[in-house]
Amino acid sequence: MKFFADTADVEAIRDLNDLGFLDGVTTNPSLIKKSGRDILEVTKEICDMVEGPVSAEVTATEAEQMIAEGRKLAKIADNIAVKVPLTLDGLKACKVLTGEGNMVNVTLCFSPNQALLAAKAGATFISPFIGRLDDISIDGMDLIAEIRQIYDNYGYETQILAASIRTVNHVKDCAMVGADVITAPPDVIKSLANHPLTDKGLAAFLADIEAGGIKIL
Ligand code: G3P
Repeated sequence: MKFFADTADVEAIRDLNDLGFLDGVTTNPSLIKKSGRDILEVTKEICDMVEGPVSAEVTATEAEQMIAEGRKLAKIADNIAVKVPLTLDGLKACKVLTGEGNMVNVTLCFSPNQALLAAKAGATFISPFIGRLDDISIDGMDLIAEIRQIYDNYGYETQILAASIRTVNHVKDCAMVGADVITAPPDVIKSLANHPLTDKGLAAFLADIEAGGIKIL
């Protein structure tokens, strides 16, 4: 399973990248706003830093404008995935932009039928939002499992990029049901390494290293 960082915070991306398990980045207008940076400038900086796909979202709502914006975003770097919303205009733009050889991430997916349409439009990634479904008492993980089954039934190659991930359990459940990618805030990704028994065990080992005078270098 691939790990993407859901952020436009360059320092947080650098930090995760240095750990060696960052496969890509996703941004959206809210994350760009939070960064306080110019979209083209910050996206270029992220693309230079990360080898994998970097999603950058269009601002338009009409297909022709989305296509024009998508072409401009795609020129930033070879690893840009143009992000379009899951509307009929977004799907139309997806078809055109993928036809021109670009990666496209179709975002704001909340139903299996929306995901089916994105696959038919040739999307590279579909982004179902887990947390926002959980917020309204609908199990977001059921959506991931249903999309997985539908894509496998027909051999669609669109990658399921589980988004709106809020907890480490979301990550584990995505891995269990076969999401291709998760995108999560950097803190969630880093906290996957945490376990109190690891801390407790390490403290005991360190005490014995000290008491036993154990040295390697
Ligand atoms: O990138 C979109 C998505 O991950 C947003 O997450 O927490 O705002 O629902 P959230």
